[in-house]
Amino acid sequence: MSNFDQSNKDVENTFVRYSESMLNDIFGTTDVTPFWVADMDFTVANPIKAELQRITDRAQFAYEFNSDAVFAAITGWYQRRHDLTLDAAKFVQVPGVLTGIALLIRELTKKGDGVLFQAPAYHQFNKVIVSAGRKAVKSPLKIVDGRYEMDFDDLNTNLSADDVNAMILCNPHNPVGRVWTREEMEKVAEIANKHGVTIISDEIHSDIIYPGHTFTSLMSVDAQNHVALIGSPAKTFGMQSISNGYIYTENAELYDTMYGVSDSMYLGHGNTFTTFATIAAFDKGAQWVDELLIYLKDSIDWIENFLKEELPEVKMYPVEGTYQIWFDFSETGFSGDDLKQKYAEAGFGFSPGTWFDQNAVDFARMNIAAPRADIQGAFKRLKAVFENSTDGIRSTPVKAEAKTKQSCC
Ligand SMILES: Cc1ncc(COP(=O)(O)O)c(C=O)c1O
Repeated sequence: MSNFDQSNKDVENTFVRYSESMLNDIFGTTDVTPFWVADMDFTVANPIKAELQRITDRAQFAYEFNSDAVFAAITGWYQRRHDLTLDAAKFVQVPGVLTGIALLIRELTKKGDGVLFQAPAYHQFNKVIVSAGRKAVKSPLKIVDGRYEMDFDDLNTNLSADDVNAMILCNPHNPVGRVWTREEMEKVAEIANKHGVTIISDEIHSDIIYPGHTFTSLMSVDAQNHVALIGSPAKTFGMQSISNGYIYTENAELYDTMYGVSDSMYLGHGNTFTTFATIAAFDKGAQWVDELLIYLKDSIDWIENFLKEELPEVKMYPVEGTYQIWFDFSETGFSGDDLKQKYAEAGFGFSPGTWFDQNAVDFARMNIAAPRADIQGAFKRLKAVFENSTDGIRSTPVKAEAKTKQSCC
């Protein structure tokens, strides 16, 4: 049995994922296995745990942070893991990735401007843009031979607008699971540069890459032309609630802007826990991540086989990276609220597709950073629910308007 197989059901569970009010809001019941938040059921790597225990045992919490040591650890990780040489002096620390994006949007654009992202998209992108008084400009990804691709023509058209000066790029992409190739990254940078658009490259999922795919940071394509890399140890090491974010650019003007805004708001350093947990993660967490990736890939393979054998009506998009899977249920005969009702009956806590794209009423996203037995149980229940529905599989799909209530995670 793998460490990742251990269930956290016995833990006193105050995680957002298990919040009764949220489960009721989203699924209409609390009786679901929650696969909706993009965090982990797993216990962190031992070196991280040891650092947190050391700090807790010491029980002294004087001012303590060390951004330079954090940046050195991150730089070492990128070099070893991605063969990418970064300059530790060119990082800016921020409390989290979304905070970093929110600051960048406010600094790089003005109220009323458009900020582009590719849809379907991590639902907080829309919020972070709109709540800053900017306009969300969506460039749809297109499905080619069962796989999502960027629509470069649409990108070119949308980025040519005078009031669109920034774009959020998500690589690897949440929720569709693409790891953009070097060619795709070069092309998107070329189009952005042509129109003088700054790319805010959200690379938070950069370490969750499956065999056959290679992560290409925008920094290895174009670190000079008004681009910024944003990451964090949160997704890689399961440190969602003790995480910091970082921004990197080799553009001096952009660096000064970012450093200035972060520093002026006193956001530019972590605390004792985030500092030492981050250093331990990047310096000593590689083996744990290697084991995690094997476990996640085995779960992906299990799901793929199960669907092929038992529920061929459910389409799963190829997962190249991230621990999110994007499913299309349009062939099941259920749609929108009916579909959500079926998930709830099966106790399957998917994120509804409409969070990521208002038209994705037949879609859902699943977070698979969970013990495999939980995943298997949920799929078996889902199959039973579909099979036992009199209006079931292969009946005519009915489009229904899905409601989006929550805005977390
Ligand atoms: C693409 C992406 N960016 C950012 C975040 C959130 O990052 P943070 O918690 O550091 O703000 C998530 C979380 O799911 C994500 O998927």
